[in-house]
Amino acid sequence: MTAEDIRPAADPDDISSNPSGNATLREVAEARLSRRSVIRGGTVVAAAGFIGAVAGTGTAMAAPGNPGNPGKPAKPGKGKKLLGFQAVPPGTDDKIVVPPGYTAQVLIPWGTPLSSRGPKWRKDASNSAADQAKQIGMHHDGMAFFPLGAGPLGSRQGLLVLNHEYVDQALLFPDGDAQMTKAKVDKALAAHGVSVVKIVQDKGRWKQVDSRYNRRITGTTPMTFSGPVGPRHPALKAENAPMGTLNNCSNGQTPWGTYLACEENWNSYFGTTDSSWKPTPQQARYGVSASSSYRWHEADPRFDVAVNPNELNRFGWVVEIDPFDPKSTPVKRTALGRIKHEGATVTESRGRIVVYTGDDQDGEYIYKFVGSAPWRLLRALRKSPLDHGTLYVAKFNDDGTGRWLPLKHGTGPLTKAGGWADQADVLLRTREAADAVGATKLDRPEWVAVHPRTKDVYLTLTNGSGWNNKVNPRKPNPYGHIVRWRERGGDNTALTFEWDIFLLAGDPAYDPQVKLSPEDVFGSPDGLGFDRDGRLWIQTDVSNSTQNRPDRGHDNIGNNQMLAADPATGEVRRFLVGPRGCEVTGFAMTPDQRTMFVNIQHPGEDTAFWGAAPTPQNPNAVSSWPDHDPAGRPRSATVVIRKKDGGVIGT
Ligand code: FEO
Ligand code: CA
Ligand code: CA
Repeated sequence: MTAEDIRPAADPDDISSNPSGNATLREVAEARLSRRSVIRGGTVVAAAGFIGAVAGTGTAMAAPGNPGNPGKPAKPGKGKKLLGFQAVPPGTDDKIVVPPGYTAQVLIPWGTPLSSRGPKWRKDASNSAADQAKQIGMHHDGMAFFPLGAGPLGSRQGLLVLNHEYVDQALLFPDGDAQMTKAKVDKALAAHGVSVVKIVQDKGRWKQVDSRYNRRITGTTPMTFSGPVGPRHPALKAENAPMGTLNNCSNGQTPWGTYLACEENWNSYFGTTDSSWKPTPQQARYGVSASSSYRWHEADPRFDVAVNPNELNRFGWVVEIDPFDPKSTPVKRTALGRIKHEGATVTESRGRIVVYTGDDQDGEYIYKFVGSAPWRLLRALRKSPLDHGTLYVAKFNDDGTGRWLPLKHGTGPLTKAGGWADQADVLLRTREAADAVGATKLDRPEWVAVHPRTKDVYLTLTNGSGWNNKVNPRKPNPYGHIVRWRERGGDNTALTFEWDIFLLAGDPAYDPQVKLSPEDVFGSPDGLGFDRDGRLWIQTDVSNSTQNRPDRGHDNIGNNQMLAADPATGEVRRFLVGPRGCEVTGFAMTPDQRTMFVNIQHPGEDTAFWGAAPTPQNPNAVSSWPDHDPAGRPRSATVVIRKKDGGVIGT
């Protein structure tokens, strides 16, 4: 079988809704790699000196999850390899596998009550919407750890904040989802959003404790808007008050101690039974259609696009949440654009914040927001650093350079004469604005991670259906790859960059272009994060229409997994294998790097390879992880990884 025979999964994200004629990254890379690149180890690298500079110096950033609390992580000693653990083999078992010398502990599975006095989890899924609103949500995704206390204390207690991306309605309701009712919609809404829980460590074991910080934010929590699309903007006036956040995929964390939840496939919740309804071009550009697999619109007019169309405009944003103020209203920060935000990776350069955010659909773009002034100054002036700045979209040139194009009203084609009313209009129609300026189409931009020392930026492109070009790196792109770039002068606010392909994922048995060793094969990189030592952690989300299947070239890869890479050498090593039907996503560490938190999302989801889908009669058809209770059902959960000797994870 050749790569051309392997088609990527038929995820909704795989279907492009981008009709613009902009060049895809594949077209750009093809032209470039054929001319001036070499392949070395597991890495496709440019002949120019990009790699050699990776081990550069600079001020170490706080690791993801630890803003303002740098701690003292152990550095690998001189001559020591960055990756010190024994790789785990690929697997298809219904369990978590970690390297010898490591432990994996399940924490806060779906349905865990937020308080010891809260409603207990019922394994037959009979908890009500009111119960669910006081329990951990479904389908854990992006996550951050906020230390409570300075120094070593901050690695023993903290707030874990995590997204609940979506719900599997076959597992959420005792009778499945053949019938949709308002009570079911309410429970589904309560299972979405974000959880904030206080956790503490005692002798290497972590547990959730009662706390005034413990909180659920759901699909009905009151929300407000800030930035150019303000709360009184006419496009936001709908039948109901502004409420809820949905499809919170990856995340971000600001240096001032707030959490960013990102709204990804929000369009999928809206539909209508009105056969006369047709999407506007603006709605179609975001993939809004009459059909919704959730079918909430059948029981709740809030989600009926023919009845309440402006409700759509309230989604597709980055949402800022203050986990330290349980009474605070989350704020949708509109200056960061309206797309299907995968995540919002925050870094800092010259005192300004820079936020990278991918739009995860086939043929979409990568964006960055650059603050207008140092964030400390803006906060001193009682202004949000997320409201004041410019949004850019990336154009990758075929000579290995790139440019950030401003999405600023009055600039380039984004003028009144060009049909753009004002900056709010540009942001409400971010995708169309990016089309207009000539951004580069990508194979589903997912997570972004910024190297703690070099400030190089890494982006997962999880897979793509294949754009119309003939050569490399891959057409179609069923396994995905990781692109990286260096902003000019290592300054993340710069408007030009040099880019490269760090790694092609896949299996050399099926695609000889893949330079991974046979034991380190993986597909569909998605979650991505650096620890403070510079290990790049990669999490995979091979679709369940593809996972494990030999006829899709995924039999050697096994279940979804997590790997670590050395950015300087391209070495990749598998660190964790998840249970059946899951994806591995969400990444946080304590400041001392001796505890890692990882999320296992949608174990037991309908997986073609296992042949049977979960049903109300047999919810355990694919997986019974983590409870392995014949009378229960699979549950998304956080997994706590520790080394038995208490050492730094990955060494
Ligand atoms: Fe929610 Fe693009 O993964
Ligand atoms: Ca993802
Ligand atoms: Ca994904």
